[in-house]
Amino acid sequence: MPSPLEHDVLIIGAGAAGLSLALQLPQALRVAVLSKADVNQGSTYWAQGGMAAVLDTKDSIDSHVEDTLAAGGGLCKREAVEFTVSNSRDCVEWLVQQGVDFDLRPDHHDEFHLTMEGGHSHRRIIHAADRTGRAISEVLTERALAAPNIEILTHRVAVDLVVEDGHCQGAYILNRQTDHVELHLARAVVLGTGGASKAYLYTSNPDGASGDGIAMAWRAGCRVANLEFNQFHPTCLYHPKAKSFLVTEAIRGEGGRLLLPDGEPFMHRFDERGELAPRDIVARAIDHEMKRLGVDCVFLDISHKPADFLREHFPTVTQRCAELGIDITREPIPVVPAAHYTCGGIVVDTRGRTDLAGLYAVGETSCTGLHGANRMASNSLLECIVYARAAAADIAATIDAAPTPRPVPAWDESQVTDSDEDVVISHNWDELRRFMWDYVGIVRTNKRLQRAEHRIELLQKEIAEYYSNYKVGNDLLELRNLAMVAQLMIRCALARKESRGLHYTLDYPDTLPEALDTVLVPANSALSS
Ligand code: FAD
Ligand code: SIN
Repeated sequence: MPSPLEHDVLIIGAGAAGLSLALQLPQALRVAVLSKADVNQGSTYWAQGGMAAVLDTKDSIDSHVEDTLAAGGGLCKREAVEFTVSNSRDCVEWLVQQGVDFDLRPDHHDEFHLTMEGGHSHRRIIHAADRTGRAISEVLTERALAAPNIEILTHRVAVDLVVEDGHCQGAYILNRQTDHVELHLARAVVLGTGGASKAYLYTSNPDGASGDGIAMAWRAGCRVANLEFNQFHPTCLYHPKAKSFLVTEAIRGEGGRLLLPDGEPFMHRFDERGELAPRDIVARAIDHEMKRLGVDCVFLDISHKPADFLREHFPTVTQRCAELGIDITREPIPVVPAAHYTCGGIVVDTRGRTDLAGLYAVGETSCTGLHGANRMASNSLLECIVYARAAAADIAATIDAAPTPRPVPAWDESQVTDSDEDVVISHNWDELRRFMWDYVGIVRTNKRLQRAEHRIELLQKEIAEYYSNYKVGNDLLELRNLAMVAQLMIRCALARKESRGLHYTLDYPDTLPEALDTVLVPANSALSS
């Protein structure tokens, strides 16, 4: 039997959350950071607009807090919002110390250039042109590779957590290079596995956003919350050759207008803030107009701005559009809404602690209470860094008292064979993502949700059977997790008997006076006895 791999801290996920946590742990701790594919393939790398922070002297913590609460549809936890926002300046300083090069104002080289996005009442988005995620990701990866105590292990897929005596002490990990499942033990385990927007047919997210952390934590007995609130970004590029390409909200922040195919602006009919209303409102307005007119997309026009300004501020969007024959300096960009961000997730406190001793969750996989019913633009990178710092401090303070992992059985592959029917996996992937898009999308009804519930139950049965008979591979693991999370999303959506933020249902169009979280408790939770 191969001996287990051991570290002090096992971090599953190499995005902004996982890497910044690793870098903020004491160097005396041996840390492993895992990624499913190459490092830099999570959502972090693709983040465009930037990171919200209170940096302008005319801005204030109170204002950022109030904007976040308003965007969140009354459901944000004030404590989480205040905690996040009040730490924003320190987190920007930390990123700058690591080496992240944020854009400076052309007229004042000692001040950051701050851009604007929906829901914000001030310019407060710090950015590196429209490739902020890449700038952060590359610097954090470089730092982690240089740190003597951190080992980055790529092409490793966590299958399930190892729990002994109510304490998380590691995970079973599929090594995609050897095709074997290895046992990794640790005294603290962190999930930084990102969101679950791949549950939808159209998404801005890269492959791999299959909600693995949420599914693993649920199976291990942790509560999840608010999964009905999946955010649809209003403007993803509509083009047959453009898979998952986002057109940053900062374009609307700099004056971009949304137009119908005949050139008519329409956002003013839906909200007095127009193009800069919070995302739930803009995405719903676009969806409404597309359905009303029977059109495939609407248009985003920024061509009135000088071409040099656009090339400097939005090089990624300008270039990608140009590759597809769209000159954004002269013509409007065809756009549609697409699934973008999982506002709910694993329930955690302000130290990133889950219900399970020894298990932390940070970043998009977690539900901190910051986003409520609708995340405000550019608050998520901020949340990753703020909560990673808090979790790192908690791990540093408590790890000495954590139990040493006890021996547990190695992964048993003796009863399974190689699959001869991979079509089952690809078929079920497609089916799941299509019915989630059609039945659990921007506008919902009880009937559609019930249809989705019925279908997900059938899929779950098929997947469970497949999982117990065949050797695991990445596609099967992602499908199993995505189906689990989709089921949790549907359960949350069915439980909410009102419309609030991103959850809009024709059966309950009104918002109830009291805002309550949708919390799901697994049968094996210590809290359910
Ligand atoms: P990710 O960056 O998604 O990383 C997840 C990591 O977990 C990856 O390394 C992955 O390989 C690993 N992983 C997952 N499952 C497993 C498993 N089973 N085993 C091992 N490893 C696993 N937010 C902003 O605040 N500002 C923006 O401008 C912005 N723009 C965005 C643009 C796009 C196109 C997208 C998709 C998102 C954007 N967001 C933005 C959202 C933001 O980027 C994400 O919420 C954030 O980066 C999530 O970081 P994370 O560390 O939680 O997860
Ligand atoms: C964008 O650049 O529009 C994405 C910002 C975000 O999702 O926070």
